[in-house]
Amino acid sequence: MAAGDSFYIATPIFYVNDVPHIGHAYTEVAADVLARWHRQSGDDTWLLTGTDEHGQKILRTAVANDTTPQAWADKLVNEAWLPLLETINIQNDDFIRTTDERHEAAVTIFLQKLYDDGYIYSGEYEGYYCVGCEEYKQLDDLMETPDGDYAGQLVCKIHGRPIEVLKETNYFFRMSDFQQKLLDLYAARPDFIQPESVRNEILQFVKQGLSDLSISRSSFDWGVKIPWDHSHVVYVWFDALLNYISAIGYGTDDETFKRRWPATQLVGKDIARFHAVIWPAMLMAAGLEVPRQVFGHGWLLVGGEKMSKSKLTGIAPSQITDTFGVDAFRYYFMSAISFGQDGSFSWEDLSARYHSELANGFGNLASRVIAMINRYYDGLVPAPGEYTEADLAIQKIVRDAADKADASIEKLAIHEAIAAIWTIVDELNGYITIQEPWVLAKSDETRERLGTVLYTTADGLRALAVLLSPVIPEATAKLWTALGAFSGLGELTDQVVVDAGHWAQLPVGSRVGSLDALFPRIETAGE
Ligand code: MSP
Repeated sequence: MAAGDSFYIATPIFYVNDVPHIGHAYTEVAADVLARWHRQSGDDTWLLTGTDEHGQKILRTAVANDTTPQAWADKLVNEAWLPLLETINIQNDDFIRTTDERHEAAVTIFLQKLYDDGYIYSGEYEGYYCVGCEEYKQLDDLMETPDGDYAGQLVCKIHGRPIEVLKETNYFFRMSDFQQKLLDLYAARPDFIQPESVRNEILQFVKQGLSDLSISRSSFDWGVKIPWDHSHVVYVWFDALLNYISAIGYGTDDETFKRRWPATQLVGKDIARFHAVIWPAMLMAAGLEVPRQVFGHGWLLVGGEKMSKSKLTGIAPSQITDTFGVDAFRYYFMSAISFGQDGSFSWEDLSARYHSELANGFGNLASRVIAMINRYYDGLVPAPGEYTEADLAIQKIVRDAADKADASIEKLAIHEAIAAIWTIVDELNGYITIQEPWVLAKSDETRERLGTVLYTTADGLRALAVLLSPVIPEATAKLWTALGAFSGLGELTDQVVVDAGHWAQLPVGSRVGSLDALFPRIETAGE
């Protein structure tokens, strides 16, 4: 991308039937890291997230809790979903709710257009529906349970709960018209669906043929009304997908819409089909551009299974951040799991990586360098003398890491970007061990060499602060202050990430401060 280009990234909008767990937080953090990186590259960045509030699932939860769906949604948004963004330090530019008036207005405009253009017709739907998934199901998606509460009944393979058998007159979207157009799109733009595993699954699915999609329900009324027939509400997914354009002014603010659309869309692989099949078909029908990319990330697994509240394996993000802090949460999930693949969560792994990588690797490096500049140079960053091969090697590592990280972010390989940046941490630690600045400090004759070594480590830390600030914003902000970088270079978040690789930006004479351990040791139960 060229600086100044639009980078619009969206997360799925989350159901408000329950409170968030770390699986939801995972998508949010990934989107936020990418958005922060692009913001720090000078791109015209916009991060959208929000909540999905209509449909039977929410209605039933509200009724079960003796309240109205609107009151329930308001409560969950205010008490759970907005606070989540604080807990994991998300810098979103907007938060859309499907009950927002702006959203409902855009849905109405969109539907009317498709109806006027002949893409919607009235028909009979007869088949299965899973309220947990909010999805029309084929027999293949179901199984008969031999035992348990639902013995002998047909249940959804995902939720293990009985499905509904529907026979309704509904409005249908002519999705079958788009089978070939979608296949052409996937062929022309191999990156449109990523990663490869998700792309293959979607290709298989579409090749088998597409049926028209029922897009309205009339047996309940918690949803956006079909504009030409108020006895129906819009099917919740058709409504929800439109959030990505309703939030940026579709139908009301053409200028903003043109400026931002199309989006990079991050979704869990379980909902990639909605985003890579139904959604582009809807957009094509309306004559709009399809998303820039749909990336289906993997699942967080607990005990080998997809973590979920319904299976009682849900972990609240605050359980982790309360002990390890928000930066550790962000770092851990972004670095330990290859983005696009499933990843197993365990407290042991989190604690081990926290201590070896964040506390001993990065935190300790930062503390040592700041302490030595304070001790040997009265807190002023020393001037380097002549560079040796070892110093030049560090400069090259920093440059290569910045380039590699930027290229990795471009293909959404967040874990690869962090691994590239981490080579700087490892190399600087090795450099300090070999150069032994504490030995150099013992003699006046090696004073100049000491200055070179400490400048090299300090400017390396400057680069690390910039490159890691999208991932661990709090710790890097503290490091930036401790390095005294602000007076010469300005705000950390104004530093261009990819330029971090240019050597010697930290002004000689910058006044370092003190630095408490960025990642203090944590005694967890059992240690
Ligand atoms: N409301 C729909 C999305 C509509 S977007 C137009 C929905 N909501 S959800 O709350 O159920 O899920 C939101 C996201 O969380 C999905 O991308 C889903 O994949 C993700 N995750 C839910 N559990 C997860 C894990 N255990 N691991 C990783 N992501 C998980 O679907």
